[in-house]
Amino acid sequence: MYLRQDLVLLMLLSSAVASFIRIPLRKVPGKTGTLRILRSWRTLEIPLPKNGPILVPLSNYLNAQYYGEIGLGTPPQNFSVIFDTGSSNFWVPSRRCNFFSLGCWFHRRYDPKASSSFQPNGTQFSIQYGTGRLDGILSEDVLTIGGIEGVPLVFGEALWEPSLAFALAHFDGILGLGFPALAVAGVQTPLDTLLALGLLDQPIFSFYLNRDPEAVSGGEVILGGSDPAHYVPPLTFLPVTRPAYWQIHMDRVIVGDSLTLCPTGCAAILDTGTSLITGPSKEIGALNKLLGGFPLLAGEYLIPCDRLSDLPTISFLLGGVWFNLTAQDYVLQLASGRTRLCLSGFLALDVPPPAGPFWILGDVFLGPHVAVFDRGAARVGLARARGTPPHPIPSPPPPRGP
Ligand SMILES: *[C@@H]1O[C@H](CO)[C@@H](O)[C@H](O)[C@H]1NC(C)=O
Ligand SMILES: *[C@@H]1O[C@H](CO)[C@@H](O)[C@H](O)[C@H]1NC(C)=O
Ligand SMILES: *[C@@H]1O[C@H](CO)[C@@H](O)[C@H](O)[C@H]1NC(C)=O
Repeated sequence: MYLRQDLVLLMLLSSAVASFIRIPLRKVPGKTGTLRILRSWRTLEIPLPKNGPILVPLSNYLNAQYYGEIGLGTPPQNFSVIFDTGSSNFWVPSRRCNFFSLGCWFHRRYDPKASSSFQPNGTQFSIQYGTGRLDGILSEDVLTIGGIEGVPLVFGEALWEPSLAFALAHFDGILGLGFPALAVAGVQTPLDTLLALGLLDQPIFSFYLNRDPEAVSGGEVILGGSDPAHYVPPLTFLPVTRPAYWQIHMDRVIVGDSLTLCPTGCAAILDTGTSLITGPSKEIGALNKLLGGFPLLAGEYLIPCDRLSDLPTISFLLGGVWFNLTAQDYVLQLASGRTRLCLSGFLALDVPPPAGPFWILGDVFLGPHVAVFDRGAARVGLARARGTPPHPIPSPPPPRGP
């Protein structure tokens, strides 16, 4: 998760549109044989390798937060987590959290005393996200995910989540799917744990994010596979240029036929944990100006809603193939009663070196396109999503005669 401050704003502006659906984890029937092995002084149930990928249904809050259910401990304590390709640690709020930790107040909290498989570790950790800092301690317990039970792993118990973004978030915690280089405190990433235990058929995972916030299904994470039913083949594969974030090389971005951004190529990361698309402030400023947008705060821009039908297609050249977004794809429309707000999907953000500069292709890009993240070959496959089309942009009412 690089950045999610847009959420705070979205939530403040749009509490009346809060129509999110929570879908429980779907069990994959009949595939969870277990085997007992001795681990330190106690027995843990280690799941047997299974056939077929692990499916986790996602809920969609306003096209800005996508999260799914996991369980932690024995018996499982349930949490909703963001599956975040922009970070590499897994954490949930802790029962032992600081009283002044805002994020802790409104979310489910892990109780080590209520879990028979809890094992202490106690190492302190701290993670800096684009939206705020998080402190806690490491612990060990078993994960339940998409019908697989009893996956032993090290995770973070968040003790201190001071940021408002976490307090208002619809999810409890974050499950990072980035490369090990981003993992703090040297913790094995959840994906590497699943791979090491032989629980995934293939070292890949993929996302399908539904861009219709009214739809029953918010999308799906597939660990260990991808589903061609979700995209229009073929996939275009791009090598990961720096394995920390899922970073790729972007050739160029063109806006209609009048503006070219990233003209000589630039770096971009594919980040399911960021709601919008971000880029260097100069370029994003020029782009939003061309869209008729005006700056709001923290790099965000509002666009007059009556201009939507005139807005140009914005095209991203990646691996020699164009990936296009229409206004319907890149404008987030919020309605609250009679008020309608149109938030530009392009946010100004200058990521400083040495990590940056880079663009972030967040959910605004990864909804209309399906990404297959291939850890084994360090590459990403992209294709246009085939899904429930989002609601069409309502055309402006016809002018009334006298
Ligand atoms: C956790 O989720 C599972 C699967 O949806 C459900 O069966 C179980 O009752 C939940 N546990 C709690 C404590 O809510
Ligand atoms: C805690 O977990 C970390 C990361 O896996 C590990 O390096 C460390 O040795 C563990 N410490 C204890 C006391 O178990
Ligand atoms: C995508 O954009 C490119 C560049 O503007 C254009 O050549 C191409 O026809 C567009 N493709 C589709 C399917 O709209």
